[in-house]
Amino acid sequence: MACAYIQDIAKYEGSEAVLRGWVYNKRSSGKLQFLLLRDGTGTIQCVGFKGNFTAEQFEALDKLTQESSIEVRGRVRKDDRAPGGFELEMTGFEVLQIADNYPITPKDHGIAFLMENRHLWLRSSHQHAILKVRHEIIKACRDYFDDQGFTLVDTPVFTPNACEGTTTLFETDYFDQKAYLTQSGQLYNEATAAAFGKVYCFGPTFRAEKSKTRRHLMEFWMVEPEVAFATLEDTILLAEGLICFILERVLSRRRGELQTLERDTTALERIKPPFPRLSYDEAVKILQSAGSETKWGSDFGGGDETILAERFDSPVMVRGYPAQVKAFYMQPDPGRPEVSLSVDVLAPEGYGEIIGGGQRVHDYDLLLRRLNEHNLPVEPFQWYLDLRKYGTAPHAGFGMGIERVVAWICRLDHLRETIAFPRMLYRIYP
Ligand code: 4AD
Ligand code: MG
Repeated sequence: MACAYIQDIAKYEGSEAVLRGWVYNKRSSGKLQFLLLRDGTGTIQCVGFKGNFTAEQFEALDKLTQESSIEVRGRVRKDDRAPGGFELEMTGFEVLQIADNYPITPKDHGIAFLMENRHLWLRSSHQHAILKVRHEIIKACRDYFDDQGFTLVDTPVFTPNACEGTTTLFETDYFDQKAYLTQSGQLYNEATAAAFGKVYCFGPTFRAEKSKTRRHLMEFWMVEPEVAFATLEDTILLAEGLICFILERVLSRRRGELQTLERDTTALERIKPPFPRLSYDEAVKILQSAGSETKWGSDFGGGDETILAERFDSPVMVRGYPAQVKAFYMQPDPGRPEVSLSVDVLAPEGYGEIIGGGQRVHDYDLLLRRLNEHNLPVEPFQWYLDLRKYGTAPHAGFGMGIERVVAWICRLDHLRETIAFPRMLYRIYP
């Protein structure tokens, strides 16, 4: 008989099914053995009646340990009391392996221990739920852009270009040439946008963030759209639409997971466009009246972002940051060149920046000047300058960090649980 997955178990009601999985939990009461079986798609209680087995077989069931791998056969019964609504009455089984003492037991473990055992911790219901939500968010990003006629063009991981400043570069030796792990696919997106009009890239990005915070990883995934002939306002609308699309998807398809995480979904349900827009100038005034030391001209710290975001129920869009705190490629505001045509989207509930983007410098001479002002070597950027020589036009885009969005939507304390194997300041194992 073909094997079934627990998520499809309703189809087998009243008939036989074969399941393969791992023992999540087990209890017995004399003539009965209860196995909670987990197969990655769900969990189901499997009941073994002593009368259905030989004494030897029944004893073998008793010897199963947490995370032992097993194939079970039995009859599927509807049972409203059972978690998941179905139960399997076992008629046979085959043990694949009796697991050693599994280190992660239902009792509480410290975070250091769990991180050390991240390869196993992923099997726990919370971690499983988080990564299912992450998958849904990524799928939503792709569908959102695909449905609007964007082309996915992958950008390289090895690059000679510093996109987001030189202080967080991971340098590698590329056959005796200096190369970096990419901080962002944006610069390449600008080239592909001139070939395809509307593009996005989605991949891992790398930053040597030397401070230990709950909002930073060394390796994180970013989805980055870029649109030719677009302005800052266009990119703000695109970002707002993306966030609404993601929320709708997760709320309709991942309710169960959010419930497992005990996420209060009302805070997510009330988010509707248009999101509040603030100018950087207004944001500084709000911060100062709330007692922050932040002055016009400086970037916002995590604390500042929390103060701003706490005033609103939905994400807030802050635009027009001083040019001096933003990257070299930001187009200046034509009326106020000290201000850049930039936007940051800050998530509610204290999650800070989830999106950064804006309009790019499209003038050759200005871009060259900016490279020089930022002490960036011109030679590796020659191709990027070329884009301003051959049919240049205003264009804009943004980058959204997947892990920050997962942390917010799942309401997690730290980014380390938003990705299967987080790369952190003091941890590269497992
Ligand atoms: O604001 P950032 O640095 O913008 C860029 O990289 C642009 N080149 C993107 C673009 O316009 N195409 O980063 C974008 C987002 C942030 O808003 C944040 O969500 C995430 O990337 N991010 C990080 N996430 C986790 N760990 C880190 N160390 C992160 N640094 C940035
Ligand atoms: Mg940013």
